[in-house]
Amino acid sequence: MAMAMAMINKMLLVAVVVVLAVAVAEGKSKEKKCDKGWECKDSVYCCNDTITDFFQVYQFENLFAKRNTPVAHAVGFWDYQSFITAAALYEPLGFGTTGGKEMQMREVAAFLGHVGSQTSCGYGVATGGPLAWGLCYNREMSPSQSYCNPDYLYPCTPGVEYYGRGAIPVFWNYNYGLIGDGIKVDLLNHPEYLEQNATLAFQAAIHQWMTPAKKKQPSPHDVFVGNWEPTKNDTLSKRLPGFGATMNLLYGDRVCGQGFVDDMNNIISHYQQYLDLMGVGRERSGDNLDCAEQAAFNPSSKSDAAVSS
Ligand SMILES: *[C@@H]1O[C@H](CO)[C@@H](O)[C@H](O)[C@H]1NC(C)=O
Ligand SMILES: *[C@@H]1O[C@H](CO)[C@@H](O)[C@H](O)[C@H]1NC(C)=O
Ligand SMILES: *[C@@H]1O[C@H](CO)[C@@H](O)[C@H](O)[C@H]1NC(C)=O
Repeated sequence: MAMAMAMINKMLLVAVVVVLAVAVAEGKSKEKKCDKGWECKDSVYCCNDTITDFFQVYQFENLFAKRNTPVAHAVGFWDYQSFITAAALYEPLGFGTTGGKEMQMREVAAFLGHVGSQTSCGYGVATGGPLAWGLCYNREMSPSQSYCNPDYLYPCTPGVEYYGRGAIPVFWNYNYGLIGDGIKVDLLNHPEYLEQNATLAFQAAIHQWMTPAKKKQPSPHDVFVGNWEPTKNDTLSKRLPGFGATMNLLYGDRVCGQGFVDDMNNIISHYQQYLDLMGVGRERSGDNLDCAEQAAFNPSSKSDAAVSS
C-alpha cells in the first residue's frame, strides 16, 4: 500500500515535470527562435517554409524548359541545385521566405522572371513560345566593347573584359567590383567566374535582388515584398511598391519611364508566365506591375549597365 502511494506520487511528479518542460519550450518558440532544421537559427524567417518546400526540380524544369536544347548557348550549365544553393545564403535575410507562402512564391517568380528575361534567346516563333527560353545564355555572345570605365575604387584589370555574364547579367568593371565585394569573391579580377560557376552566377543575381544599389534606397526585394514606404518624391515620380519598381531598380531608364516598350513588356511576360507555371496564377501579379511611367531611381548618365554604380 505504502509502496503503491509512493509510485503514484512519483508518476505525478514526472507528469508535472513534463508539463513544465513543454510550457518552457513553447514560451521560447514564441520569443522567436525555431529549430526547424534549416541553417538560420538566428533569423526571424527560420520557421517559415523554405524555397525547396514550394519550388522543386520539376518546376525549375518547367520554367526553363529549353535551356539544354542543342541550339541553346549554355547547355548543361544551369541547374536547380545551383539556384537552391545560392538561394539558401539569402533565405535567412528574407529571400523567398518573407510574408507567407503566396508572397514567397511570388517573389521567386519575380526574381526568376528577371533572370529568364535577361538570359532568354526566345523570339516570336521559337518552339515552345518566346517565354520558354530563359537561361539560354550565361554570357553576352558578341560583346561590342570591353565595358571598362575609369574607376577609382574598381579599376579595370588589364586584359580582362567586363561584358555581360551571369543570371542577371553584370556589365562594367565597377559593377563586377561592387558585386564581388558584396559576395566576397574577386570578380574584378575574375569576372569569368560568373560564366564558369552557376552557383556564383545565381549568387551574384540574388545579391543584386537583395541589396540596395545606393544608401537610403530600397532593394528590389524590399519594393516587392512590401518592406518599402515610398517618399513624397517617389510618389511624384510614380514609383510605388510592386514588380514595376523592381525593374526600375535593376535597369532604370533603360526599361522604365519609356511607356509600354518591348523590353519592359518582355520582363513582365516572363514574371507572369512563371506565376502561371508555378500554380500561383498571373492574376496575383500584384499592384504596380509595370514601370512605364516611373522616373528612374538612378537616372543613367551614359552607361547601359544592368546595375548603376
Ligand atoms: C512567416 O510566414 C507567415 C505566414 O506563413 C507570415 O505571416 C510571416 O510574416 C512570415 N514571417 C516573416 C518574418 O516574414
Ligand atoms: C562554385 O562556387 C561555389 C561558391 O563559391 C563553390 O562552393 C563551388 O565549389 C564552385 N563550384 C565549382 C565547380 O567550382
Ligand atoms: C526630390 O526630387 C527633386 C527633383 O528631382 C530633387 O531635386 C530632390 O533632391 C529630391 N528630394 C529628395 C529628398 O530626394
